[in-house]
Amino acid sequence: MPVDLSGPLLSEFERAKKEFERAVAAGDMETARRSALRCASILRQLARHVPYNGELYLKKAKKWEDVAGQIERGEYGRKAVVGAEGKSTTQEKDEEDQFREYVLGLISKSRTTWDDIGGLEDVKLLMMETVVIAALKKPAAVQPWRGILLFGPPGTGKTLLASAAAGSLNATFFNVKASSVLSKYFGESSKIISALYEVAREKAPSIVFLDEIDALTTRRSNDTSEATRRMLSTLLTELEGFHGEGNEKLVLTLAATNTPWDLDEAVLSRFPKRIYVPLPDKEATKAIVRIHTEGLDISRLDLDAIAEESVRRLYSGRDIRNLCQEAIWNMIREENKDLHRLAGLPFEELRKRSLRTRPLEMRDFEEAFRKIKSPLTKKDIERYEKWAEEFGG
Ligand SMILES: Nc1ncnc2c1ncn2[C@@H]1O[C@H](COP(=O)(O)OP(=O)(O)OP(=O)(O)O)[C@@H](O)[C@H]1O
Ligand SMILES: [Mg+2]
Repeated sequence: MPVDLSGPLLSEFERAKKEFERAVAAGDMETARRSALRCASILRQLARHVPYNGELYLKKAKKWEDVAGQIERGEYGRKAVVGAEGKSTTQEKDEEDQFREYVLGLISKSRTTWDDIGGLEDVKLLMMETVVIAALKKPAAVQPWRGILLFGPPGTGKTLLASAAAGSLNATFFNVKASSVLSKYFGESSKIISALYEVAREKAPSIVFLDEIDALTTRRSNDTSEATRRMLSTLLTELEGFHGEGNEKLVLTLAATNTPWDLDEAVLSRFPKRIYVPLPDKEATKAIVRIHTEGLDISRLDLDAIAEESVRRLYSGRDIRNLCQEAIWNMIREENKDLHRLAGLPFEELRKRSLRTRPLEMRDFEEAFRKIKSPLTKKDIERYEKWAEEFGG
């Protein structure tokens, strides 16, 4: 058993940290820098000597080294020193780091392109224009939309559109679900929003995608919590506009909702551009079927008949994708009757064989249609259309 050194090392760390704080408060940055490095070195020893939490200590050590670096470059303190009354500088720093870390975790790489989206031609065009205008050099009077609201039934391609916008610009894509920010960082969610836009400006061009924005709404529930209200007001300020130097940087906010009627005036007013993402019509359906059967022979399909039936059943893009997958599975199962028997083979053996396919047939789809049910009714659609007429555009 190695000797457990964590006790003495931890108290040494505490001492170094206190010294650092005192030095920062006194403005003695050279001492502060040395203490920060001391903190880092103790944490590295801890990581070596303690059988648990090694990763964590290394991560913290890294942070202290960053602090020392910032001091050396004269960058440290501008923000952190503010914390002198109230929270200690390191506490504040830690908290800020924690929010930034969370925000960095929301970044995803988008490989979606406009071609992955079937139909929605007008919507695509408008979004392409917006994105391009926002990126081009332009006179000050030309103000592009800073935020666009996408609304429509579930599964119609709202997330897909946001991700294509990011993919086409090669922009940093922040995929934010309002409800999960609220549930995870209840009470602190407005700080997350600040951190979100701060990082988005740093990593511009950025697209901030706020999914389920209705989760923030105050219209129906009058018992909305203080935390939600604060988050909302921070968000509204961020959307409002002028942030000095960040202003020329492209940070486009796209928000999505299935229940636009739940949004309150304050939110709506920040999204003057509201785009209806409807269920696909016949032509769009055909395009979506082509996208989701790519690489397979569909020459024997009556695409018009499939599209007509889909539209009649109020299928969304998601339903159409599922329909195609069902149909493809029907074909695969029929052609590879012994598939399950191969389950006993080692992976290497399996790699040598290939799946048998054949052209897709109408019967594959007929069976698939029975399995896919849209949750929507005509009444639901009417509600979207009415809202679009009144508030969309
Ligand atoms: N227009 C479309 N073209 C191609 N595929 C589509 C289209 N619409 C939806 N899909 C398929 O359905 C999936 C779900 O779509 P998406 O997530 O964009 O819907 P959404 O409008 O964001 O739904 P929700 O409101 O439930 O979040 C997509 O990943 C894609 O596979
Ligand atoms: Mg979505």
